[in-house]
Amino acid sequence: MSDRKDLIVGNWKMNTTHLEAIQMVQKLFYRLAATDHERVEVVVGPPFTSLRSIQTVIEADNMPIGLAAQNVYWESEGAFTGEVSPPMLAALHVNHVIVGHSERRAYFGETEETVNKRVKATLAHEMKPILCVGETLDQREADQTEEVLVTQVSGGLQGVTPEDVAASAIAYEPVWAIGTGRHADADTAGVGCGLVRSTVAGSHGEEAAAGIRILYGGSVNAGNIKDFMAKRDIDGALVGGASLDPDTFAAVVRYWV
Ligand code: PGA
Repeated sequence: MSDRKDLIVGNWKMNTTHLEAIQMVQKLFYRLAATDHERVEVVVGPPFTSLRSIQTVIEADNMPIGLAAQNVYWESEGAFTGEVSPPMLAALHVNHVIVGHSERRAYFGETEETVNKRVKATLAHEMKPILCVGETLDQREADQTEEVLVTQVSGGLQGVTPEDVAASAIAYEPVWAIGTGRHADADTAGVGCGLVRSTVAGSHGEEAAAGIRILYGGSVNAGNIKDFMAKRDIDGALVGGASLDPDTFAAVVRYWV
């Protein structure tokens, strides 16, 4: 057994106004017990427009809930209309940044190079990246899963120190399982996460591989989370749809109950 703490992250995607977000985080807090937080690091990832409101609520009530942003630009300031920089997020006490989500790769032109820049910029400002990797259905059917994962993991972490890698997280999210209700079975997810860990071992060493937390993502819900968490190389989950209802997300967090 490793001493990696479970990490369960809600990715709210482009959902919720800041008013709805405040209610959601309050409900989530009241549905979780102090002992749950000892076992699981619980993180919510609202849209940028809700970060400030949620930060205020979390800090006012001393909630042991972490805050994630869903993206970040790599420059600190300047003429980049519409972008949000690492120091802006760090000033809101954002702890984690989701980087290279497959929706960003598919719809917003993310490349290995831009994903890598975002990972490094996140770490340079004392936040932790959650690097998202995963194959499409076409790639899986063409037997390219391993190649895709190796490319995305080593590309995303290029030039990052082993210490920083150990403090980071990677979410293995098969694209065909995201938002489809068609989750990977636990064995497939476990193999994918194992492949991610062995890739990290190859590129950054055994210590980095033993420290980094690897999450499964793709149609995780309260009914299937337990099977994923039983896998040796799965340290947590990145949860989309099921994180939008605080009752359901609390049930995902308390997966052993
Ligand atoms: P899903 O999304 O849980 O709705 O499949 C997961 C994700 O995209 O991170």
